[in-house]
Amino acid sequence: MTSEINNKKIVKIAVLGGDGVGPEVTAQSVKVLRALEGEGLAFELTEAPIGQAGVDAAGVPLPDETLALAAKSDAILFGAVGAPTHIIHADRAKRPGAGILKLRKSLGLYANFRPAVMFPELLNASTLRPEIVRDVDMLIIRELTGDLYFGEPRGVHREDGKRVGINTMRYSEDEISRIGHIAFQAARQRRGKLCSVDKANVLETMQLWREVMIETGKHYPDVELSHLYIDAASMTLIRNPASFDVIVTGNVFGDILSDASAMLTGSIGMLPSASLSAGTLGLFEPVHGSAPDIAGKDIANPIASVLSTAMMLRHALALPHEADRIEGAVRHVLADGYRTADIHEIGKIKIGTEEMGDAIVGALKKAA
Ligand code: IPM
Ligand code: MG
Repeated sequence: MTSEINNKKIVKIAVLGGDGVGPEVTAQSVKVLRALEGEGLAFELTEAPIGQAGVDAAGVPLPDETLALAAKSDAILFGAVGAPTHIIHADRAKRPGAGILKLRKSLGLYANFRPAVMFPELLNASTLRPEIVRDVDMLIIRELTGDLYFGEPRGVHREDGKRVGINTMRYSEDEISRIGHIAFQAARQRRGKLCSVDKANVLETMQLWREVMIETGKHYPDVELSHLYIDAASMTLIRNPASFDVIVTGNVFGDILSDASAMLTGSIGMLPSASLSAGTLGLFEPVHGSAPDIAGKDIANPIASVLSTAMMLRHALALPHEADRIEGAVRHVLADGYRTADIHEIGKIKIGTEEMGDAIVGALKKAA
């Protein structure tokens, strides 16, 4: 819990930079947090390894000390995990991605919020025509602790000498209704439209998903509930993305749709996310991954991490004013024409990761 000492609010944050560009972008968020400190507010930031960094430090992607630190923090600021040489790893438990999955499961972080909002300054950075993406303002709510990611049985075994791979799509009605309630409540705070995405025409698990969403919707007559199959939803996301308000979907479909929605807004380097539990603990991370191809080159876009930090202040730490300040600073820097390589266009000023972090801090201070 956050503590108050001599009227100073002290917030404990676990900083898990992870692999690839994770540590670089997270370092910019740390700068931003430091810039917010003052008489009434201090951040106690503790770093710990996860992903391949966890394997290197302690032999496993989620070392016990990292999990213990995360569990007793007020919030978790996460970078990214994944190292190219370790994706096909004989021992599944040692893959870098296993670190974040175990962290989500252990801490019960089942509700993943992935907003995709068009910044007007980046209208031309999208691969889609400006008139298609101009009004994009959607929120994908992805269930994060169930589905094919965690269902049993799973594994690769041999049948008649040949390898067979198995994963299980599993959802209980309680898991569906709890993410449903979160999504209906979120839709109520926005434009009152919720689209549930499933594959109920083929999969029994998804038939249950749809049934439970309809039942849950009875508690929210003010929210307009619609349903799309994942294939049609993917098509609509490209054809008419502005038609979506809130999307609720399972773990696998949410993983895929959120990357696609990110591209609508110009770059996945812009998109933040929040993973919340039933309690107050939350984990905040960019939607993008570790991007090993650009790691260490000071070219990654730190804005997704910085905006995740804003979500952390708003959703986990009850510091909405500070969250507004960060988002304002990001808009300011974009309006001033500063761009990392992923969102750069002719006529704008191309800068690196560190410079973008410094520019955001500069805008924060100027506005103070
Ligand atoms: C994400 C990522 C993760 C996921 C990976 C790194 C395990 O793609 O957060 O979207 O699949 O959930
Ligand atoms: Mg993903």
